Amino acid sequence: MDTVLSGIRSTGSLHLGNYFGAVKNFVKMQHENRCFFFVADYHSLTTHPRPGNLQESVKSVLSEYIASGLDPEVATIYVQSDVPEIPELYLLLNMNAYVGELERTTTFKEKIRSQPDNVNAGLLTYPVLMCADIIIHNADKVPVGKDQEQNLEMARKFARRFNNMYGVEYFKMPEPYNFGQELIKVPGLDGTGKMGKSEGNGIYLADEPSVIRKKVMRAVTDAGPAKPGSEMSEPVKNLFYLLQLLSKPDVVEYYKDQYDQCAIRYGDLKKQLAEDMVAFTTPIRKRILEIYNDNDYLRRVVRMGAEKARESAGKTLKDVREIIGFKSF
Ligand code: TRP
Repeated sequence: MDTVLSGIRSTGSLHLGNYFGAVKNFVKMQHENRCFFFVADYHSLTTHPRPGNLQESVKSVLSEYIASGLDPEVATIYVQSDVPEIPELYLLLNMNAYVGELERTTTFKEKIRSQPDNVNAGLLTYPVLMCADIIIHNADKVPVGKDQEQNLEMARKFARRFNNMYGVEYFKMPEPYNFGQELIKVPGLDGTGKMGKSEGNGIYLADEPSVIRKKVMRAVTDAGPAKPGSEMSEPVKNLFYLLQLLSKPDVVEYYKDQYDQCAIRYGDLKKQLAEDMVAFTTPIRKRILEIYNDNDYLRRVVRMGAEKARESAGKTLKDVREIIGFKSF
């Protein structure tokens, strides 16, 4: 059985893009693999050094993932800062990570541009911490988006370097995992590009129905097809894509026909899309709230997760210390 691991930064909430693009696949994978999913709260401090409330954001991430179907009885779900073995491995890996290569990392260079007043050492060594996250459980597969592929490449580099340095075959090389053909990019409501956290073009799992309706009704469209059988413009294609994800096949067919016959009323299509989004998100939103407000349950979840994660991490760290040459007197 492969070990699958992914980390989720505790900044922002889940939208439909995250759900269909990633979480839905996590949910499927948990039954076929040894899965670790964790909230990367240390990582979030590199960009949010004074979090409004660190615990609240961790709680929302946990509630949203569990409400979406991640099962703490099946997968190991934990909070990064509950596993002290991770920062210890990070410290050890830092000794074999070179400042030059860290400075050349794309994500670091982007951060220098986006937060020039806070170019902290945590940002520089972000890929080292990420490597520790991954190899502490000797993960085989790491499902991440395109933007994280270089960080993952660095993780492989540090793992390989450790093996070479100490002449061992200890760490496996973690591979990116992109779900094969199932990889989907969910478009946003602003006509261009994909749904994103910073773009403000998304529908969140926790959005109230009235908010969803308002956002969908404001979605960008066009002047309508000029003649039967015309190509769809990008914004309209995007709406149909969303309709396909969320509505019944006959509904999609109906609006496609309407479009082909130049009889389409975008207002009707949007109303339908909004109602189907509301129907889809409502049970999830209710579960999110239930879980978020059930502190006893969440406490049990993170304790159990920390225990399982520490058992696995402790074994690795013990081996690593031995390999490096730490001995007790
Ligand atoms: N850097 C990842 C992101 O921003 C989050 C993350 C931290 C992660 N540690 C990880 C992802 C380990 C995969 C594996 O999305």
